[in-house]
Amino acid sequence: MGLWTKKSIAVLQAEAAGETTEHTLRRALGALNLTTLGIGAIIGAGIFVLTGTAAARYAGPAIVISFIVSGLGCLFAGLCYAEFASMIPVAGSAYTYGYATLGEFIAWIIGWDLILEYLFGASTVAVGWSGYFDAFMQQIGVHLPKSFTSAPYFYADAPELDPVTQAVIHPAGFSHVPGAVMNLPAVVLIALMSTLLVIGIKESARFNNFIVILKVTIVLLVIGFGFMYVNQANWHPFLPANTGQYGHYGWSGIVRGAAVVFFAYIGFDAVSTAAQEAKNPQKDMPIGILGSLAICTVLYILMALVMTGLASYRDLDVPHPVFVAIEKAGPALAWLASVINIGAIAGLASVVLVMLMGQPRVFYSMARDGLLPSVFGKVHPKFKTPYVTTILTGIVAAVMAGLFPIGLLGELVSIGTLLAFVIVCAGIIALRYKSPNLARPFRTPLVPLVPILGILICGYMMYSLPAATWERLIYWMILGLVIYFTYSRRHSKLARAEGSA
Ligand code: ALA
Repeated sequence: MGLWTKKSIAVLQAEAAGETTEHTLRRALGALNLTTLGIGAIIGAGIFVLTGTAAARYAGPAIVISFIVSGLGCLFAGLCYAEFASMIPVAGSAYTYGYATLGEFIAWIIGWDLILEYLFGASTVAVGWSGYFDAFMQQIGVHLPKSFTSAPYFYADAPELDPVTQAVIHPAGFSHVPGAVMNLPAVVLIALMSTLLVIGIKESARFNNFIVILKVTIVLLVIGFGFMYVNQANWHPFLPANTGQYGHYGWSGIVRGAAVVFFAYIGFDAVSTAAQEAKNPQKDMPIGILGSLAICTVLYILMALVMTGLASYRDLDVPHPVFVAIEKAGPALAWLASVINIGAIAGLASVVLVMLMGQPRVFYSMARDGLLPSVFGKVHPKFKTPYVTTILTGIVAAVMAGLFPIGLLGELVSIGTLLAFVIVCAGIIALRYKSPNLARPFRTPLVPLVPILGILICGYMMYSLPAATWERLIYWMILGLVIYFTYSRRHSKLARAEGSA
């Protein structure tokens, strides 16, 4: 029984055909719901927070080009996801695609890696949400105690010094934050979203639709009204000259900016985890994945243009750059500035919802294959949701968001997701050679060019992330390998079937 044992597409398709046993999920989602699920997961902390930092520090107004570069990487990966999702519409997403094309070992690596994207992603965005929520409450005169809005642990790669006194504020590594107990709003958000997800996929999708309408409206208002007040002088120079340091403006700044704003695109692939709950996955999965990605790409490019046109890029290095940009328009847009926080609060909440939806569905597939304990594959008899893994995912995500700082996780989410994209692109090439005649309701165009470009752009973005992030990825993977070789490999259903054959 080899590490490279593959699960046959015929078996996967039979599983996807969804014999209605007590272990199957409910098929309740159409093309529109899948697209809004994608948008729900995409528009969040990336556009509302990171765009400002990336423009100010790395690319200037050319952050618009960073968005295009990053969007192209996602488009190529998205086209590959769409082919797989239409061909193998099973809940596990990239994990399942890996099992079919590259074998059990790589599948495990992707499944383990997706925890970085979904579970860690949910925690990261929940912490960002808590920051916006706290600011909003202060605006309306409610002051939450600081000890319950901050994590008790802080992490810094290098010592952080007070700019004036040069005293050490935080030593390198983990330190305890005096007085802080936990980030309670983040914990409560995760608990609420997990409860909704246990109750039902339909109910969750409905809630998500409502939020998506709200946040897209606010983004459109920012774009529409913002354009009227743009000061074109802010776009000059469009690409500030490189300072002599890699990543600080100039072309290298654009690339580093692309790697940072990549976080803003994460989420369209989460659509593929809901394949088993789609009414007509062959047709609707590609629409959901590519439709949500296309809509958000256009919105992001316009939003980046407006933000850097309203304010000088130097002024955008703040936690609430959209607000700062709109404030520059003066009193005429004061009404808009006051609703932006609502857009961010709503937006980040739906990102957390969809991430917390994606993770249990990957675990569910892994459990059905025997790589995780079978309890992970339990479906609620009434709600038809994978409730055990949803609750477990919620508990772990809440503990992480409540106790640990956001800085440690953000880039790890990006590098983990990029790795999954690279493997999915490679999988498309592998499957075209291995099984050229399989029915593919959606075909990635220009294979192998598109997947190769996907691998190159996503690989380049991975390369430009800091060494510390790579180190964490490697530690995470080593932990995954230990679990694979001590538990999963021995319990794999496929390996057992082969062994007894
Ligand atoms: N794309 C998601 C966000 O920006 C993860 O919050």
